Amino acid sequence: MNQLYSNHIGDLLKRHRQLMQNNDIENLIISSGTPIRVYQDDMDYPFKSSFFFRTYVPLTELPHSFIVIGLSGKPKLVYFQPVDFWHTPPADPSGYWTEHFEIEVIKETKAAAELLPLDNQAVAILGEDSEILADYEKAQKNPESLINAIYWQRAYKSDYEIECIKQANQLAARAHNVAEKMFRAGKSEQQIHLAYLESLGILEHQLPYGNIIALNANGAILHYHDCQSKVPDKVRSFLIDAGASVAGYHSDITRTYAYEAGEFAELISAMDAVNLECIGEARVGAEYGDLHASAHRKIARLIHDFNFVDMSVDALVETDITSTFFPHGLGHLIGLQVHDVGGQFADETGAAKPPPAAYPFLRSTRTIESNMVYTVEPGFYFIDPLLAKQKDGEYANAFNWDKIESFRPYGGIRIEDNIVIRESGVENLTRDAFSAL
Ligand code: GLY
Ligand code: MN
Ligand code: MN
Repeated sequence: MNQLYSNHIGDLLKRHRQLMQNNDIENLIISSGTPIRVYQDDMDYPFKSSFFFRTYVPLTELPHSFIVIGLSGKPKLVYFQPVDFWHTPPADPSGYWTEHFEIEVIKETKAAAELLPLDNQAVAILGEDSEILADYEKAQKNPESLINAIYWQRAYKSDYEIECIKQANQLAARAHNVAEKMFRAGKSEQQIHLAYLESLGILEHQLPYGNIIALNANGAILHYHDCQSKVPDKVRSFLIDAGASVAGYHSDITRTYAYEAGEFAELISAMDAVNLECIGEARVGAEYGDLHASAHRKIARLIHDFNFVDMSVDALVETDITSTFFPHGLGHLIGLQVHDVGGQFADETGAAKPPPAAYPFLRSTRTIESNMVYTVEPGFYFIDPLLAKQKDGEYANAFNWDKIESFRPYGGIRIEDNIVIRESGVENLTRDAFSAL
């Protein structure tokens, strides 16, 4: 990790210093952020350091801290380590990243002010504003041109970042297997969720995103977080969308299982093949939006072959009936954020490249390039409000409603992998992680 991180930060500093020069910035102050208090309460929400801060250091839960980057020399890290007998204070800075910083430990939040650069004419501040930064009235705060360029560049992952995402896949794959065993043993959503956390040795707030642990029809709720404690009378299916984090980088993995053999299990196998076919189309130079459009054709083929709607594949795509069964985007960039920034940029200036009107939920419209990391997550669901619209619509008679009714109790299917694109081909971090178990 040492060498990978060393290369990562060397390259990051070079690129960010170039952006600083382009924007007449001599000092960049990156704030980790301030805990957010529950309204009219004396408790804070779980704290997460800003992703600007986490781009530099794997300090995922360190508030009131700053990184200062000048045009040369080591960056400075102002590290907040209070004397606190109510909470566990942050440990002493340690690990592979420390040698790359001049580290100043502060015990009081106010002490940061003396360690930040004084001249605020040519200073830019990234991240949340705070009391400490109140005197920096001349500084540029989150200047758009700088931020857009940083967001754009974030899509290209360093080998260090890819290694972190790979390890996050390995951790999550192991926990997914534990969750599958719990499902097979007839456990509740809540029990499966807790087993997932236990297997990772983490608490809820340390997940990259709220686990989706859905039995039966709950799989049709795209962001299902209810996690019920009661086991359904008849267990049919299990959709799990859950990740893990390593050094602030995330994985985002979905698998779907049938309890018994049958047509739903066959649809899962078919969707697994769709996922792999979509990944097979990912290559340097391809448009992610084209992969998404192509996924709709594959979903149309399944709608046709499983006889959910009596229409040709072409007609299913043209009428957008495919969106009833597959209403979300094919995937997104992933890294320091589960849905990484810059997915709808045309270039480094942040010019918009919006999704086509037909696919408003597509998060990435970028041209696929080397060292990008994407999720690929085609889905096939039986979603009541979307089906209800079709029941009242002009194509209602083409739908095989009895057949659909028999699938509704199974909810839906999503198969989600995380992939790295390189000139030499695609590396599937998720499948590799499962295979290695
Ligand atoms: N787990 C959120 C997503 O798949 O995008
Ligand atoms: Mn997911
Ligand atoms: Mn995802």
